[in-house]
Amino acid sequence: MRSLPPTGRFEVEIRDDDVAFFREHGYLAIDRITTDEEVLWLREVFDGLFRTDTGGAPGGYFDVARPYGESGPVRLAQTLFPEGPVPALRESNYQRNARRIAARLLGVERDALQSWGHMIWKPARDGHETPWHQDEAYWEPGFDYQAVAAWLPLDDADAENGCLWFLPGSHRGEVRSHRHLHDDPAVHALVTDPGDLSRAVCVPVRAGGASFHHPRTLHHAGANGSPRQRRAYASEFQTPPVRRAVAAHRPWVDEGKAAWAERSAR
Ligand code: NI
Repeated sequence: MRSLPPTGRFEVEIRDDDVAFFREHGYLAIDRITTDEEVLWLREVFDGLFRTDTGGAPGGYFDVARPYGESGPVRLAQTLFPEGPVPALRESNYQRNARRIAARLLGVERDALQSWGHMIWKPARDGHETPWHQDEAYWEPGFDYQAVAAWLPLDDADAENGCLWFLPGSHRGEVRSHRHLHDDPAVHALVTDPGDLSRAVCVPVRAGGASFHHPRTLHHAGANGSPRQRRAYASEFQTPPVRRAVAAHRPWVDEGKAAWAERSAR
């Protein structure tokens, strides 16, 4: 049975130079966003949500590196909107601190932000690479976004088990052309050609720390060949998306939706 969330309150603030760093580079890492006690509870929540492979349907996890509905050993699994089945996540120190920091990074009021989460499991020894991408490439092309992602590892994340890498400054560019991994629209994961990676930075974060990134910052996470799993809880904070006069050209979004509809009708 899932234990109750810990009650200890923990507050984190960032400084003006952190905000400046984020705006220049498109990412920011901090040592602490929540307590060890809360990390233990979040691991229990995480493990509970990753018990059922639903192939992409709500209520469980699905593997983003293989076609919807195809089962097999987990290599890169995701569960969406964990705050639905576990509303207490919204009251966590992580969520509260991440929201405050996101508001400061975006220069908006906390109350102006909507949020949604997902959890990502990169298992030990055979965890799949998370290909280079921009988060905004996944989103509806008919809207403009003002958003920032928070990423909380529940296990110490480093280059061996698949921490995030960022390409500094890439958030100032447009959304690049993406395609589905393996060129299969039934595979959820997107990939882009990141170009010159000589300036890419590896950003290890201990469990209970966090990183933040802009939705256009190019990022990736390596494969996990280590004996340690890498569990992470990511949250997107955004002001309400604004409808564009002309939708951006992101055909891979509709291709993915069609493949999902086709697979789930089988
Ligand atoms: Ni991402």
